[in-house]
Amino acid sequence: MSTARSLFVAAYAKINLTLDVLGKRDDGYHALASVMQAISLHDTLLIRANTSGQIAMVCDDPALHGDDNLALRAAWLLKAETGDARLGAEIELRKAVPVQAGLGGGSSDAAAVLTTLNALWGSGYDAAHLQALGARLGSDVPFFIRGGTALIEGRGELVTPLLDAEPLWILLAKPRTGLSTAAVFGELSPAGFTDGAATRRVVEAIGRREPIAFGDLANALEPGVRRAFPEVDAACTLLLAAGAPVARMSGSGPTVFAPCRELALARAIYAKLVGGPLDVWLAHTVTSRLFSVPLPNS
Ligand code: C5P
Repeated sequence: MSTARSLFVAAYAKINLTLDVLGKRDDGYHALASVMQAISLHDTLLIRANTSGQIAMVCDDPALHGDDNLALRAAWLLKAETGDARLGAEIELRKAVPVQAGLGGGSSDAAAVLTTLNALWGSGYDAAHLQALGARLGSDVPFFIRGGTALIEGRGELVTPLLDAEPLWILLAKPRTGLSTAAVFGELSPAGFTDGAATRRVVEAIGRREPIAFGDLANALEPGVRRAFPEVDAACTLLLAAGAPVARMSGSGPTVFAPCRELALARAIYAKLVGGPLDVWLAHTVTSRLFSVPLPNS
């Protein structure tokens, strides 16, 4: 097979700078308003296109090796959309983003497969078409088609690109547990719904190219998760005690993040936390430019 039909692709994680839960919808999902931000922590995929008609995937995390892996399902979904029985692919997935962490790792893998196979197979679908396909796989997938900084609405499938947020170092601290998104949303009562003001303020600041006021970072799911899971509450406390300007949960948790404007501060916090009860990473924001799939040589 020609090497021109193979690509390495990075599947970046995300954090939610804000996550407003506006209410519950008739379809059982929650109506969201969220500013999502792609970050440098990423899985790596090697994707080889072929004409075998088959799609195969191996993953270095055996727990993610099954047919229900979102990346594998993304490949089959795109192939079905094309209606071309000859299209095939081999996918190798190296995980680095923790699963069930609130960082969108599985969703990002799926989006990376959609954009990359779209290019390698020459399917020619535009971003809106790929986002619509992605929404069928999961609420977070559409964001990762373009990545960068975006306003997310609806159940997650309505993506409005924003200007790139200011560059920030992002400290990630994760208790060694995984949380189910469905369970976390299921525990949220109407008293925990928010009005979208936090998201509006952050969208406005980004639109004016102003620094984000860290006090505006908010997550409607965080109070309930911190009450139910003391280790998430402890993670916030540890980050603040280590000098973080603010500590917020990402998505449905349990990962907590702290934004830092100076590397020295981020390094100091990292040094205090590493080796303790939390898994820690020092990442940074990434722009949507890193999401464009390079076209292979023909
Ligand atoms: O869309 P996805 O399959 O990733 O969502 C997982 C679960 O999270 C849903 O089944 C639902 O219980 C919950 N969810 C929600 N509202 C959203 C997104 C997800 O209630 N906007």
